[in-house]
Amino acid sequence: MNDNQAKLPAFVDEGQGDPIVLLHAFPLDGTMWDNERIALSQSRRVVVPDLRGFGRSGKLPPPGSLDEHADDVARIMDHLGIERAAVAGLSMGGYIAFAFARRHPHRLVRLVLADTRSAPDSVDGRRGRDENIALVRSEGVPPLVERLLPKLLSPKASPEVVTRVRALGGRQTAEGVGAALAAMRDRPDATPILPGIAVPSLIIVGEADSISPPTEARAMATAIPEAELAVIAGAGHLTNLEAPAAFMAAMLKFLDR
Ligand code: MLT
Repeated sequence: MNDNQAKLPAFVDEGQGDPIVLLHAFPLDGTMWDNERIALSQSRRVVVPDLRGFGRSGKLPPPGSLDEHADDVARIMDHLGIERAAVAGLSMGGYIAFAFARRHPHRLVRLVLADTRSAPDSVDGRRGRDENIALVRSEGVPPLVERLLPKLLSPKASPEVVTRVRALGGRQTAEGVGAALAAMRDRPDATPILPGIAVPSLIIVGEADSISPPTEARAMATAIPEAELAVIAGAGHLTNLEAPAAFMAAMLKFLDR
């Protein structure tokens, strides 16, 4: 283990009960889960990391792969004395949840995969990542957030949500965002692991999600043996921000079962 790995990402640990770890999307940080953290911590232990390179972990050297983020989650659990937990990830958080399921399957109790996809980046997608890395290096993070906004949110998103995502994304560091773009570009195909996921799983997707569309969510729900699907009407990619009540209802229905 080198010095960078030795530094744990910042995290919030709140509430008591069955633990759940919430993994944030790109290019945001753990505060995107504020609503869920507050609601879930009434009855559970909720752990919300700022992944290395983001939020309060923005000054930590970012990892070069999503596998390292997944290992960070395991190290946070070790630190907190949590042997097994439910893991919920939205989009990039979902990619990391796949890596966690592959690398630490015995530590998983349940899985929530929101607005994410098991498929790797296409050739065009990888080229787009390189363009975005160049944009962040030359102009900083806010222009990238402007470029991404129409994909992150549906046209129906409220001005408040747009402002929140703009602020959340715009405050991240160019180094962290650039490293995450490269890590997402290079992530492996998670589709082969889906049939081997042995825990109850919930797939959530916004009806209008264009980054990880409902067709892919349906295919994942079919491939994972014990999976159910919740489609959030009218929402775009960041479903928990656009439709917090529907998102929380789907999560609670699943977690309470
Ligand atoms: C995210 O919301 O985490 C990103 O849109 C994921 C991606 O760019 O593939």
